[in-house]
Amino acid sequence: MNSKDNYAKKNEDVRIQYLSCSDINTKNRLNYNLIVFNINNYIENITSYLDIGSQEGQFAEYLNTHINIKETNCLDINDVSINNGRKRYPQFNWFCCNIKDFITNKKYQVITINNSFFYFFNKNTIQKIFNMLEEIGYLFISYGDSNLKPLNITDNKIIKTMEEIGFNYVNSIKSFEKVDTKVNYHITANRWYTCLVFKKN
Ligand SMILES: C[S@@+](CC[C@H](N)C(=O)[O-])C[C@H]1O[C@@H](n2cnc3c(N)ncnc32)[C@H](O)[C@@H]1O
Repeated sequence: MNSKDNYAKKNEDVRIQYLSCSDINTKNRLNYNLIVFNINNYIENITSYLDIGSQEGQFAEYLNTHINIKETNCLDINDVSINNGRKRYPQFNWFCCNIKDFITNKKYQVITINNSFFYFFNKNTIQKIFNMLEEIGYLFISYGDSNLKPLNITDNKIIKTMEEIGFNYVNSIKSFEKVDTKVNYHITANRWYTCLVFKKN
């Protein structure tokens, strides 16, 4: 099995394990600030917010310290993360669910997907996320180059797929340039992040 197959296999839902990045450190602070900066550019107050792949809610909490959010919802497939998150941030609503199976009639004004889009990048799930947004809703997706490049998924491919579903592409910003463009695995200092902004209408 080549490294690309290995990477794809690692990302099958059934293989998802508890990941240890549940606290804000220098590495994810860069990424988090990129999204916070972008959200602040478009929205002043958030009425209903959903973080998909929230882990223990560390990003949702960080966002709450930067912008006024009336209702925060966190969804993750991993029950350990969800149970820890419930204890850490009981003020949030928690859903332990695979986003692919999540059923709701609720509409969210803002949805964020940080460092988890590569687990469920497929049209059915993107359509589901589209349906979950309010008519004037925003979706913010952020990822590191080491996450999607090994799967041959580029920014343009993501944007094209999102537009096919009906999203309007608004903007893209990157945190910093890599030192060595040949290296695309997890080395904090040699990694850039991208944040894509989409609107429903
Ligand atoms: C790398 S962590 C990112 C955590 C957090 N968003 C952050 O940026 O710090 C990816 C998270 O996505 C979750 N995840 C992966 N596939 C998922 C799915 N299909 N549905 C819901 N959550 C999923 C994992 O359990 C994990 O907590």
